[in-house]
Amino acid sequence: MNNNKKNINNHLVIDVSHINKSFSGKPAVVDFSLQVATGEICGFLGPNGSGKTTTLRMICGLLIPDSGEGHCLGYDILTESYAIKSQVGYMTQSFSLYHDLTAYENLDFIARIYQIPHRKRAIADCIKTFNLTERQNQITGSLSGGWKQRLALAGCLLHQPKLLLLDEPTAGVDPKARREFWDEIHKLSARDITTLVSTHYMDEAERCTKLAYISYGQLLAQGTVEQIIQQSGLHTWSISGEHLIQLEDLLRNKPGVEQIAFFGTRLHVCGSNDELLTQTIQSLAMPAFECTKITPGLEDVFISLVGKTKNRD
Ligand SMILES: Nc1ncnc2c1ncn2[C@@H]1O[C@H](COP(=O)(O)OP(=O)(O)OP(=O)(O)O)[C@@H](O)[C@H]1O
Ligand SMILES: [Mg+2]
Repeated sequence: MNNNKKNINNHLVIDVSHINKSFSGKPAVVDFSLQVATGEICGFLGPNGSGKTTTLRMICGLLIPDSGEGHCLGYDILTESYAIKSQVGYMTQSFSLYHDLTAYENLDFIARIYQIPHRKRAIADCIKTFNLTERQNQITGSLSGGWKQRLALAGCLLHQPKLLLLDEPTAGVDPKARREFWDEIHKLSARDITTLVSTHYMDEAERCTKLAYISYGQLLAQGTVEQIIQQSGLHTWSISGEHLIQLEDLLRNKPGVEQIAFFGTRLHVCGSNDELLTQTIQSLAMPAFECTKITPGLEDVFISLVGKTKNRD
């Protein structure tokens, strides 16, 4: 209980240090540390297979780390997993709904598992909050992706957790439903409910109060969007004009050019050596192109970070 007190005083809902996990000798999460304070919305990003789900499972006590230590909601992740599991709202990557039950029956099932007091009342409130009234008697398997997501989030919140761990909750969901989902997360944050949410979407990353970026199991960057961009030391030029495909060919492997990507009608050219990159861009000296120095986007930064970990192998 002393530990519990310590973390609550520090307002840290998640506080894990140097955790590791391997599967059959293959490292999935390596020396990972993360702190998330009460009410924060922490976005968890990284390529496929980088260790996001494994980390979320360790934080909520479903998987025990091979080494390292940490607390979640003040409970020890190594020894108090039962308490953590009962107080966290965990939305898995596959939503974990029973497709042959109705929406209502899914919520009722979850409410019974958690032994929620005044179950019927709690479900009715939840249905109202999430606008599920017209869908409550529909078979879950026949709901669209957006409604399944809404139902899964409703199910996560039934037992009124103080922490939500959401694993790619918006994958395959349309922009309107995604926006509604994020509005809901921000409303919860205002009520001091903390969220750690994995996503591959950059626009969603920008809605978070803090980000953590993982690649090959290693945490490569954390902080606000602005901090991550600033710490990256990446410089970016945005180029517009005709024949950008040919320009891309021309620029590839030129001094200072580390990555090139198309963004609509513009080309982003990035590198960590500002001087070399600028010289290369200026050497283009073609009036057909308009070159502007810009602040790198999160995607530019993350692609650059992945490149750096690959090079470390
Ligand atoms: N139960 C398991 N048994 C064996 N290997 C596993 C297991 N779970 C995860 N892994 C491996 O651990 C690594 C990290 O996987 P994880 O699912 O955590 O990545 P992720 O970042 O969530 O990926 P995605 O974005 O595709 O969901 C991968 O190499 C994966 O194959
Ligand atoms: Mg995953």
